[in-house]
Amino acid sequence: MTTPAGPILGIETSCDETACAVLAPDGAVRAEAVLSQQEHAPFGGVVPEIAARAHLAHLPALVDGTLRRAGVAFAGLGGVAATSGPGLIGGLIVGSGFAKGVALAHGLPFVAVNHLEAHALTARLPGLVPGGLAFPYLLLLVSGGHCQCVSVQGVGRYARLGGTIDDAVGEAFDKVGKLLGAGWPGGPAVERLAAAGDPARFALPRPLLGRPGCDFSFSGLKTAVAQRVAAYPPGPLPAQDAADLAASFQRAVAEVMADRADHAMAAFAAAHGPRTLVVAGGVAANLALRAALETAAARRGFALVAPPLRLCGDNAVMVAWAGIERLRLGLTDPLATAPRPRWPLQEMTA
Ligand code: KG4
Ligand code: ZN
Repeated sequence: MTTPAGPILGIETSCDETACAVLAPDGAVRAEAVLSQQEHAPFGGVVPEIAARAHLAHLPALVDGTLRRAGVAFAGLGGVAATSGPGLIGGLIVGSGFAKGVALAHGLPFVAVNHLEAHALTARLPGLVPGGLAFPYLLLLVSGGHCQCVSVQGVGRYARLGGTIDDAVGEAFDKVGKLLGAGWPGGPAVERLAAAGDPARFALPRPLLGRPGCDFSFSGLKTAVAQRVAAYPPGPLPAQDAADLAASFQRAVAEVMADRADHAMAAFAAAHGPRTLVVAGGVAANLALRAALETAAARRGFALVAPPLRLCGDNAVMVAWAGIERLRLGLTDPLATAPRPRWPLQEMTA
Protein backbone atom coordinates (compact mmCIF):
# COMPACT_ATOMS: atom_id res chain seq x y z
CA MET A 1 0.00 0.00 0.00
CA THR A 2 1.33 3.44 -0.92
CA THR A 3 0.20 6.58 0.85
CA PRO A 4 -0.57 9.58 -1.38
CA ALA A 5 2.15 12.24 -1.14
CA GLY A 6 -0.27 14.97 -0.06
CA PRO A 7 -3.95 15.90 0.25
CA ILE A 8 -6.28 14.72 -2.53
CA LEU A 9 -8.60 17.04 -4.43
CA GLY A 10 -11.91 15.39 -5.40
CA ILE A 11 -14.31 16.79 -8.01
CA GLU A 12 -17.91 15.72 -8.66
CA THR A 13 -19.89 17.03 -11.66
CA SER A 14 -21.80 14.00 -13.00
CA CYS A 15 -25.30 15.39 -12.54
CA ASP A 16 -26.59 18.60 -10.94
CA GLU A 17 -24.29 18.91 -7.94
CA THR A 18 -21.07 20.84 -8.44
CA ALA A 19 -18.86 19.62 -5.62
CA CYS A 20 -15.24 19.54 -4.54
CA ALA A 21 -13.40 18.32 -1.47
CA VAL A 22 -9.89 18.12 -0.10
CA LEU A 23 -9.06 15.05 1.99
CA ALA A 24 -5.83 14.36 3.87
CA PRO A 25 -3.98 11.20 2.71
CA ASP A 26 -5.55 9.31 5.66
CA GLY A 27 -9.06 10.30 4.50
CA ALA A 28 -9.72 13.09 7.01
CA VAL A 29 -11.86 15.81 5.41
CA ARG A 30 -9.91 19.09 5.29
CA ALA A 31 -12.59 21.09 3.42
CA GLU A 32 -15.55 20.40 1.16
CA ALA A 33 -18.30 22.20 -0.73
CA VAL A 34 -21.47 21.05 -2.51
CA LEU A 35 -23.39 23.42 -4.71
CA SER A 36 -26.80 22.04 -5.71
CA GLN A 37 -27.65 23.75 -8.99
CA GLN A 38 -30.87 25.71 -8.66
CA GLU A 39 -30.98 26.41 -12.39
CA HIS A 40 -33.11 23.28 -13.05
CA ALA A 41 -35.98 23.92 -10.64
CA PRO A 42 -38.26 25.66 -13.19
CA PHE A 43 -38.00 22.58 -15.47
CA GLY A 44 -38.87 19.94 -12.85
CA GLY A 45 -35.83 17.87 -13.82
CA VAL A 46 -32.15 18.18 -14.70
CA VAL A 47 -31.48 19.84 -18.08
CA PRO A 48 -28.12 18.40 -19.26
CA GLU A 49 -26.97 21.44 -21.22
CA ILE A 50 -27.81 23.80 -18.36
CA ALA A 51 -26.01 21.46 -15.93
CA ALA A 52 -22.82 21.47 -18.03
CA ARG A 53 -22.80 25.27 -18.30
CA ALA A 54 -23.51 25.68 -14.58
CA HIS A 55 -20.62 23.33 -13.67
CA LEU A 56 -18.34 25.41 -15.88
CA ALA A 57 -19.53 28.63 -14.26
CA HIS A 58 -19.29 27.42 -10.64
CA LEU A 59 -16.42 24.93 -10.46
CA PRO A 60 -13.32 27.19 -10.55
CA ALA A 61 -14.44 29.44 -7.67
CA LEU A 62 -15.69 26.44 -5.69
CA VAL A 63 -12.30 24.70 -5.99
CA ASP A 64 -10.49 27.92 -5.16
CA GLY A 65 -12.47 28.48 -1.96
CA THR A 66 -12.19 24.84 -0.89
CA LEU A 67 -8.41 24.76 -1.37
CA ARG A 68 -8.11 28.01 0.59
CA ARG A 69 -10.15 26.61 3.50
CA ALA A 70 -8.08 23.41 3.39
CA GLY A 71 -4.92 25.52 3.53
CA VAL A 72 -3.33 23.87 0.50
CA ALA A 73 -2.27 25.05 -2.96
CA PHE A 74 -2.49 22.99 -6.17
CA ALA A 75 1.23 22.33 -6.01
CA GLY A 76 0.90 20.86 -2.50
CA LEU A 77 -1.66 18.22 -3.51
CA GLY A 78 -0.86 14.51 -3.71
CA GLY A 79 -3.35 13.78 -6.49
CA VAL A 80 -6.56 14.78 -8.23
CA ALA A 81 -9.64 12.55 -8.50
CA ALA A 82 -12.66 13.43 -10.62
CA THR A 83 -15.89 11.63 -11.42
CA SER A 84 -15.46 10.41 -14.99
CA GLY A 85 -18.70 8.45 -15.32
CA PRO A 86 -21.41 7.35 -15.34
CA GLY A 87 -23.38 10.57 -15.72
CA LEU A 88 -24.24 13.46 -18.01
CA ILE A 89 -21.42 13.82 -20.51
CA GLY A 90 -21.23 17.64 -20.44
CA GLY A 91 -20.67 17.75 -16.68
CA LEU A 92 -18.21 14.84 -16.82
CA ILE A 93 -16.15 16.67 -19.44
CA VAL A 94 -16.10 19.84 -17.33
CA GLY A 95 -15.10 18.14 -14.06
CA SER A 96 -12.62 15.60 -15.40
CA GLY A 97 -11.17 18.17 -17.82
CA PHE A 98 -10.58 20.58 -14.95
CA ALA A 99 -8.94 17.82 -12.87
CA LYS A 100 -6.69 16.74 -15.75
CA GLY A 101 -5.61 20.35 -16.26
CA VAL A 102 -4.57 20.60 -12.60
CA ALA A 103 -2.81 17.21 -12.77
CA LEU A 104 -0.93 18.15 -15.95
CA ALA A 105 0.09 21.59 -14.74
CA HIS A 106 1.39 20.36 -11.39
CA GLY A 107 2.63 16.87 -12.28
CA LEU A 108 0.06 15.14 -10.05
CA PRO A 109 -1.44 11.66 -10.38
CA PHE A 110 -4.97 11.63 -11.82
CA VAL A 111 -7.74 9.19 -10.89
CA ALA A 112 -10.80 8.78 -13.15
CA VAL A 113 -13.41 7.92 -10.52
CA ASN A 114 -16.49 5.83 -11.22
CA HIS A 115 -19.37 7.64 -9.49
CA LEU A 116 -20.96 4.34 -8.40
CA GLU A 117 -17.68 3.15 -6.92
CA ALA A 118 -17.47 6.42 -5.00
CA HIS A 119 -20.94 5.78 -3.49
CA ALA A 120 -19.93 2.13 -2.88
CA LEU A 121 -16.74 2.98 -0.96
CA THR A 122 -18.16 5.90 1.10
CA ALA A 123 -18.88 3.59 4.02
CA ARG A 124 -15.12 2.91 4.30
CA LEU A 125 -14.33 6.55 5.07
CA PRO A 126 -12.34 6.63 8.31
CA GLY A 127 -14.50 7.38 11.32
CA LEU A 128 -17.80 6.05 9.95
CA VAL A 129 -17.36 2.52 11.31
CA PRO A 130 -15.11 1.99 14.36
CA GLY A 131 -11.89 0.41 13.11
CA GLY A 132 -12.98 0.94 9.48
CA LEU A 133 -15.30 -1.18 7.36
CA ALA A 134 -13.54 -4.24 5.91
CA PHE A 135 -14.33 -6.06 2.66
CA PRO A 136 -16.49 -7.91 1.78
CA TYR A 137 -19.83 -6.21 2.44
CA LEU A 138 -23.23 -6.10 0.84
CA LEU A 139 -24.18 -2.83 -0.81
CA LEU A 140 -27.62 -1.52 -1.62
CA LEU A 141 -26.98 1.32 -4.04
CA VAL A 142 -30.05 3.54 -4.31
CA SER A 143 -29.94 6.79 -6.25
CA GLY A 144 -31.68 8.76 -8.96
CA GLY A 145 -30.19 6.70 -11.77
CA HIS A 146 -29.26 3.42 -10.09
CA CYS A 147 -30.81 0.76 -7.92
CA GLN A 148 -28.80 -2.39 -7.35
CA CYS A 149 -27.58 -4.97 -4.83
CA VAL A 150 -23.86 -5.52 -5.06
CA SER A 151 -21.41 -7.77 -3.26
CA VAL A 152 -18.39 -5.52 -2.66
CA GLN A 153 -15.29 -7.73 -2.55
CA GLY A 154 -12.64 -5.05 -2.78
CA VAL A 155 -11.71 -1.89 -4.67
CA GLY A 156 -12.70 -2.55 -8.28
CA ARG A 157 -14.23 -5.92 -7.40
CA TYR A 158 -18.01 -5.86 -7.53
CA ALA A 159 -20.51 -8.68 -8.13
CA ARG A 160 -24.03 -7.63 -8.98
CA LEU A 161 -26.69 -9.67 -7.16
CA GLY A 162 -29.72 -7.85 -8.55
CA GLY A 163 -30.98 -4.55 -9.87
CA THR A 164 -34.01 -2.68 -11.10
CA ILE A 165 -35.81 -4.03 -14.13
CA ASP A 166 -37.38 -0.64 -14.89
CA ASP A 167 -37.06 2.62 -12.90
CA ALA A 168 -34.43 3.47 -10.30
CA VAL A 169 -35.93 4.09 -6.88
CA GLY A 170 -34.89 7.77 -6.80
CA GLU A 171 -36.47 8.22 -10.21
CA ALA A 172 -39.73 6.81 -8.77
CA PHE A 173 -39.53 9.28 -5.87
CA ASP A 174 -38.90 12.11 -8.33
CA LYS A 175 -41.88 11.14 -10.53
CA VAL A 176 -44.20 10.71 -7.55
CA GLY A 177 -43.03 14.07 -6.23
CA LYS A 178 -44.08 15.63 -9.52
CA LEU A 179 -47.45 13.83 -9.53
CA LEU A 180 -48.17 15.06 -6.01
CA GLY A 181 -46.99 18.59 -6.73
CA ALA A 182 -44.48 18.15 -3.89
CA GLY A 183 -41.65 20.07 -5.57
CA TRP A 184 -38.30 19.03 -6.94
CA PRO A 185 -36.13 17.06 -6.31
CA GLY A 186 -38.91 14.65 -5.45
CA GLY A 187 -37.17 12.40 -2.90
CA PRO A 188 -36.74 14.85 -0.02
CA ALA A 189 -40.05 16.57 -0.96
CA VAL A 190 -42.00 13.29 -0.81
CA GLU A 191 -40.36 12.40 2.51
CA ARG A 192 -41.35 15.79 3.98
CA LEU A 193 -44.91 15.43 2.67
CA ALA A 194 -45.16 11.85 3.98
CA ALA A 195 -44.34 13.00 7.52
CA ALA A 196 -47.90 14.35 7.84
CA GLY A 197 -49.53 11.41 6.06
CA ASP A 198 -51.13 8.05 6.90
CA PRO A 199 -49.07 5.25 5.28
CA ALA A 200 -52.00 2.80 5.61
CA ARG A 201 -54.53 5.02 3.80
CA PHE A 202 -53.92 3.85 0.20
CA ALA A 203 -53.38 0.20 -0.73
CA LEU A 204 -50.56 0.42 -3.29
CA PRO A 205 -48.82 -2.55 -4.97
CA ARG A 206 -45.55 -4.04 -3.68
CA PRO A 207 -43.80 -5.02 -6.94
CA LEU A 208 -41.77 -8.28 -6.76
CA LEU A 209 -42.32 -8.61 -2.99
CA GLY A 210 -41.70 -12.21 -1.96
CA ARG A 211 -40.37 -13.22 -5.37
CA PRO A 212 -37.04 -15.07 -5.51
CA GLY A 213 -33.88 -13.07 -6.19
CA CYS A 214 -33.16 -9.45 -5.45
CA ASP A 215 -34.29 -7.51 -8.51
CA PHE A 216 -36.43 -4.39 -8.12
CA SER A 217 -39.32 -2.86 -10.02
CA PHE A 218 -40.89 0.53 -9.37
CA SER A 219 -42.76 1.52 -12.51
CA GLY A 220 -45.99 -0.30 -11.52
CA LEU A 221 -45.97 1.40 -8.13
CA LYS A 222 -45.44 4.80 -9.75
CA THR A 223 -48.30 4.07 -12.21
CA ALA A 224 -50.57 3.10 -9.30
CA VAL A 225 -49.88 6.50 -7.70
CA ALA A 226 -50.56 8.20 -11.05
CA GLN A 227 -53.92 6.41 -11.31
CA ARG A 228 -54.93 7.52 -7.79
CA VAL A 229 -53.99 11.10 -8.69
CA ALA A 230 -55.92 10.90 -11.97
CA ALA A 231 -59.11 10.07 -10.04
CA TYR A 232 -59.15 13.64 -8.63
CA PRO A 233 -60.38 16.67 -10.55
CA PRO A 234 -57.57 18.67 -12.25
CA GLY A 235 -55.59 21.01 -9.99
CA PRO A 236 -53.74 20.51 -6.71
CA LEU A 237 -54.75 17.49 -4.60
CA PRO A 238 -56.35 18.09 -1.19
CA ALA A 239 -53.37 18.50 1.17
CA GLN A 240 -54.17 15.54 3.43
CA ASP A 241 -54.74 13.22 0.46
CA ALA A 242 -51.38 14.22 -1.03
CA ALA A 243 -49.67 13.55 2.30
CA ASP A 244 -51.41 10.17 2.68
CA LEU A 245 -50.44 9.17 -0.87
CA ALA A 246 -46.83 10.20 -0.23
CA ALA A 247 -46.74 8.20 3.01
CA SER A 248 -48.39 5.16 1.40
CA PHE A 249 -45.92 5.28 -1.50
CA GLN A 250 -42.94 5.63 0.82
CA ARG A 251 -44.10 2.67 2.92
CA ALA A 252 -44.54 0.52 -0.20
CA VAL A 253 -40.99 1.39 -1.32
CA ALA A 254 -39.55 0.68 2.14
CA GLU A 255 -41.30 -2.70 2.36
CA VAL A 256 -40.17 -3.74 -1.11
CA MET A 257 -36.59 -2.62 -0.48
CA ALA A 258 -36.46 -4.48 2.85
CA ASP A 259 -37.74 -7.65 1.15
CA ARG A 260 -35.24 -7.40 -1.71
CA ALA A 261 -32.42 -6.63 0.72
CA ASP A 262 -33.47 -9.67 2.77
CA HIS A 263 -33.01 -11.92 -0.28
CA ALA A 264 -29.67 -10.27 -1.06
CA MET A 265 -28.49 -10.79 2.53
CA ALA A 266 -29.44 -14.48 2.35
CA ALA A 267 -27.42 -14.90 -0.86
CA PHE A 268 -24.47 -12.92 0.53
CA ALA A 269 -24.51 -14.77 3.87
CA ALA A 270 -24.42 -18.14 2.07
CA ALA A 271 -20.99 -17.17 0.72
CA HIS A 272 -19.55 -14.96 3.49
CA GLY A 273 -21.75 -15.33 6.58
CA PRO A 274 -23.73 -12.39 8.00
CA ARG A 275 -21.68 -9.21 7.83
CA THR A 276 -22.59 -5.63 6.97
CA LEU A 277 -25.35 -4.19 4.81
CA VAL A 278 -24.39 -0.76 3.49
CA VAL A 279 -27.01 1.53 2.00
CA ALA A 280 -25.62 4.32 -0.18
CA GLY A 281 -26.73 6.88 -2.76
CA GLY A 282 -29.18 9.77 -2.58
CA VAL A 283 -32.18 7.69 -1.51
CA ALA A 284 -30.21 6.35 1.46
CA ALA A 285 -31.06 9.69 3.08
CA ASN A 286 -34.67 8.50 3.46
CA LEU A 287 -35.30 7.76 7.13
CA ALA A 288 -38.30 5.45 6.56
CA LEU A 289 -36.15 3.36 4.23
CA ARG A 290 -33.27 3.29 6.73
CA ALA A 291 -35.63 2.12 9.49
CA ALA A 292 -37.03 -0.70 7.33
CA LEU A 293 -33.51 -1.81 6.35
CA GLU A 294 -32.37 -1.65 9.98
CA THR A 295 -35.10 -4.12 10.95
CA ALA A 296 -34.40 -6.38 7.96
CA ALA A 297 -30.65 -6.37 8.67
CA ALA A 298 -31.11 -7.17 12.36
CA ARG A 299 -33.29 -10.17 11.46
CA ARG A 300 -30.45 -11.60 9.37
CA GLY A 301 -27.72 -10.77 11.89
CA PHE A 302 -26.26 -8.04 9.65
CA ALA A 303 -25.16 -4.62 10.85
CA LEU A 304 -26.63 -1.74 8.82
CA VAL A 305 -24.24 1.04 7.89
CA ALA A 306 -25.67 4.19 6.33
CA PRO A 307 -23.44 7.20 5.68
CA PRO A 308 -24.37 10.48 7.37
CA LEU A 309 -27.09 12.31 5.42
CA ARG A 310 -24.70 14.84 3.84
CA LEU A 311 -22.66 11.98 2.32
CA CYS A 312 -25.69 10.15 0.85
CA GLY A 313 -26.42 12.57 -1.99
CA ASP A 314 -23.79 13.45 -4.54
CA ASN A 315 -20.69 15.00 -2.99
CA ALA A 316 -16.96 15.18 -3.63
CA VAL A 317 -15.79 13.71 -0.32
CA MET A 318 -16.73 10.29 -1.70
CA VAL A 319 -14.90 11.03 -4.96
CA ALA A 320 -11.70 12.08 -3.19
CA TRP A 321 -11.98 9.02 -0.93
CA ALA A 322 -12.38 6.66 -3.91
CA GLY A 323 -9.30 8.40 -5.33
CA ILE A 324 -7.35 7.70 -2.14
CA GLU A 325 -8.44 4.04 -2.12
CA ARG A 326 -7.12 3.69 -5.69
CA LEU A 327 -3.92 5.69 -5.15
CA ARG A 328 -3.13 3.47 -2.15
CA LEU A 329 -3.22 0.50 -4.51
CA GLY A 330 -1.01 2.35 -6.99
CA LEU A 331 -3.90 2.78 -9.43
CA THR A 332 -3.87 5.94 -11.53
CA ASP A 333 -5.35 6.80 -14.92
CA PRO A 334 -3.77 8.36 -18.00
CA LEU A 335 -4.78 11.94 -18.80
CA ALA A 336 -6.14 10.59 -22.11
CA THR A 337 -8.87 8.67 -20.24
CA ALA A 338 -12.21 9.61 -21.80
CA PRO A 339 -15.25 10.27 -19.60
CA ARG A 340 -17.90 7.54 -19.86
CA PRO A 341 -21.63 8.42 -19.72
CA ARG A 342 -22.32 4.69 -19.22
CA TRP A 343 -19.91 2.89 -16.91
CA PRO A 344 -21.30 -0.13 -15.03
CA LEU A 345 -19.66 -0.95 -11.70
CA GLN A 346 -18.95 -4.43 -12.96
CA GLU A 347 -16.62 -3.00 -15.62
CA MET A 348 -14.30 -1.58 -12.95
CA THR A 349 -10.90 -3.12 -12.52
CA ALA A 350 -8.33 -2.95 -9.77
O1 KG4 B 1 -26.98 9.86 -5.46
P1 KG4 B 1 -27.78 11.04 -5.91
O2 KG4 B 1 -27.55 12.37 -5.24
O3 KG4 B 1 -27.61 11.27 -7.46
C1 KG4 B 1 -27.51 10.20 -8.34
O4 KG4 B 1 -26.38 9.64 -8.45
O5 KG4 B 1 -28.56 9.84 -8.91
O6 KG4 B 1 -29.32 10.63 -5.77
C2 KG4 B 1 -30.34 11.53 -6.11
C3 KG4 B 1 -31.68 10.86 -5.90
C4 KG4 B 1 -32.85 11.69 -6.41
O7 KG4 B 1 -33.71 10.84 -7.16
C5 KG4 B 1 -33.51 12.17 -5.13
O8 KG4 B 1 -34.90 12.42 -5.28
C6 KG4 B 1 -33.25 11.01 -4.20
O9 KG4 B 1 -31.92 10.63 -4.49
N1 KG4 B 1 -33.36 11.40 -2.79
C7 KG4 B 1 -34.26 10.88 -1.93
C8 KG4 B 1 -34.07 11.56 -0.71
N2 KG4 B 1 -33.05 12.46 -0.86
C9 KG4 B 1 -32.62 12.34 -2.15
N3 KG4 B 1 -35.20 9.93 -2.10
C10 KG4 B 1 -35.97 9.63 -1.04
N4 KG4 B 1 -35.88 10.26 0.16
C11 KG4 B 1 -34.94 11.22 0.37
N5 KG4 B 1 -34.84 11.83 1.57
ZN1 ZN C 1 -25.00 9.62 -7.00
